Amino acid sequence: MPKKLISGIKPTGHMHLGNYLGAIKNWVELQDQYSCSFFIADLHSLTIKISKEDLQKQTFDLAIDLLALGINPKKSFLFKQSEVVGHTELAWIFNCLVPVPELERMTQFKDESLRHPENVNAGLLTYPSLQAADILLYLAEFVPVGEDQVQHLELTRVLARKFNNRYGHFFPEIKPVLSPARRLMSLNDSAKKMSKSLGEASYIAIADDPETISKKIKKAVTDEQGIKNLLELYSYFGHPEKTKSLNSAFQKGKLMNVELKEELIKVTLDFLKPIQEKRTYFQDHPKEVEKILVEGAKKAQNEADKNLKKIKNLVGLI
Ligand code: TRP
Repeated sequence: MPKKLISGIKPTGHMHLGNYLGAIKNWVELQDQYSCSFFIADLHSLTIKISKEDLQKQTFDLAIDLLALGINPKKSFLFKQSEVVGHTELAWIFNCLVPVPELERMTQFKDESLRHPENVNAGLLTYPSLQAADILLYLAEFVPVGEDQVQHLELTRVLARKFNNRYGHFFPEIKPVLSPARRLMSLNDSAKKMSKSLGEASYIAIADDPETISKKIKKAVTDEQGIKNLLELYSYFGHPEKTKSLNSAFQKGKLMNVELKEELIKVTLDFLKPIQEKRTYFQDHPKEVEKILVEGAKKAQNEADKNLKKIKNLVGLI
């Protein structure tokens, strides 16, 4: 039996190359080594105020981005978290095991509370219980995440141990699978990570049209770090020989920024072309996307039902 792996991502709007290289590319590759489940963490996105329309649109967009980038429903379960009964039930059980101060010292909770002081809701505080439930409901052992999620995974391990001590051994020790360090930097600020929060000029969205991509790259900052960042971006999509020659031109102080940018635009567009074609296909066939998510949820639900029954039994609920 291949080892079980799970990860989730919140629907927060435009997926960009930073998300792809930092996480999704890794997911796509992991599909061949593990039995994988990937889900859209729509329940988690309710912890930040979001309109019904945005939630629906962003969920759909995320699904088509994931499919276009190579998450393959024939290999992996792909589903919406809210469509599987059990995540929130197990989260409740975990809520009753986790001391409030442990939740209060989570970095993400502190950061988000500062960012949205008007909306420090209970869901934001108990966010890590739901995340632990997302993982442990399937008895998944491997969880690919970025550095920023390591603390939540640590809490997941603590909760699993607490549960096991109290009710009998059931949950495995989970292990983070860290993405190979591909921390893509922003186009408009060479010292910061590519991010939606830095505005549209910071990132190249998977769905950006060629003209927009070309404009964004042309406007990218070209201080020394900025050039290094563009060279790095080039190295992901360009030919290794060409990458070498651009790098050596840079070291000799002979690299023309315009040339680098032209080359980068070319390889980025080449890389994105087939992905965008797939994306457009799914955009035009929303029923097919819906079907993929419903079938993914069905398969996930099967596993969830089995485990939840055993969990409830151990706790004394049934
Ligand atoms: N909290 C994660 C993030 O912000 C998303 C997430 C929710 C997740 N549930 C998960 C990741 C379970 C891994 C496993 O990126």
